[in-house]
Amino acid sequence: MGRTYAHYRDLVRGRRLPLALCDLGLFDENVAAIARRAGGTPIRVASKSVRCRALLRRILDHDAYRGVMCFTAAEAAFLAEDGFDDLLVAYPTVDREELVAALEWVKKGTRIVLMVDDPEQVRRINALADEVGVVADLCIDVDMSMRLPGLHFGVRRSPVRTAAEAAAVARVISRAGSVRLVGVMGYEAQIAGLADAVPGKAPMMAVVRALKGRSIAELTARRGAVVDALRRGGADLEFVNGGGTGSLESTSRDPAVTEVTAGSGFFSPALFDSYRDFHHQPAVAFALPVTRRPAPGIVTCHGGGYIASGATGDDKQPQPYLPRGAELLPLEGAGEVQTPVKLPTGTTVAIGDPIFFRHAKAGELCERFATLALVEGDSIVEEVPTYRGDGKTFL
Ligand SMILES: Cc1ncc(COP(=O)(O)O)c(C=O)c1O
Repeated sequence: MGRTYAHYRDLVRGRRLPLALCDLGLFDENVAAIARRAGGTPIRVASKSVRCRALLRRILDHDAYRGVMCFTAAEAAFLAEDGFDDLLVAYPTVDREELVAALEWVKKGTRIVLMVDDPEQVRRINALADEVGVVADLCIDVDMSMRLPGLHFGVRRSPVRTAAEAAAVARVISRAGSVRLVGVMGYEAQIAGLADAVPGKAPMMAVVRALKGRSIAELTARRGAVVDALRRGGADLEFVNGGGTGSLESTSRDPAVTEVTAGSGFFSPALFDSYRDFHHQPAVAFALPVTRRPAPGIVTCHGGGYIASGATGDDKQPQPYLPRGAELLPLEGAGEVQTPVKLPTGTTVAIGDPIFFRHAKAGELCERFATLALVEGDSIVEEVPTYRGDGKTFL
């Protein structure tokens, strides 16, 4: 990453802080690098990791990318209204209002596919599709975790694991009158979302990498078997989705997969710094103003406690980014209203100047800022609304 503290400090001078920035030069590098990593397999953009319509459009303008992976049906309806198409809602929704909003867009011709893994979801969607007067396209989510004695390597989402279990859901779909099965999603969270080169944890990382290797072999065979069984059972599958930023290489090599997903790699937040096989550019950061100097070598910023979701731990805190070498204080961390930062020896930052941080995760930062300031070269060229700036908080 070639950007310096002085470069960004001068950029935000005169702007109201806190301010979130997206460096378009680095963002575009990530868009191109992710396209290369997918090796020609079309990429669906995980909107939860972007949460900004202008940036979603910028990614989709690149020809490697096709369609959006939404995180709620209401979001799909919101994007449809703005002209987005080919929307896969990747998580089951049972909210009537949201589903009807999405199905109304299906009726107007937008492609929206809803996720299921349980006959009850199918039943509910079928009833609403009937009411709206459409046939709803469905995708079955297949669990890609690996089960070992005493270890569940992966996430807990779908109960559908085997070809037989997927076929059973497919039969429920085929018997209902207003839904049809068009896709399969098998997301290997334990490969895509688990860092495997965290500094200072070499023995543990060796174990993680070994588990990943074993898991890729197991899930690839199972994902393929599920797809074969559904096709043999008469399903006319239009796509098989898999993967995420951290698994683009292995997922795109799976012959059963027709499209991969990526989201986090575009912003490339702190948690994505520690993967062995790739390194993307830190395209998004936020600037907090220094408002106090409690002791030599320590400055205190206003704001900053934007903790990421997931099992809580130090790695879910934002990381001071520039000036380089700045650190959080272990006993205070990133605070609700104030965040003290220890500066490296010899570095001084004046009151009113910014400290730049990176969020641990990608899109969640956009829930804290109404806009992203877009940086091109030496200037901020535009401020674009995040979902929050659009007045939308979907979850
Ligand atoms: C279903 C699904 N696919 C793909 C992804 C990958 O997204 P990202 O590239 O942002 O890690 C996720 C992230 O959680 C997901 O839930």
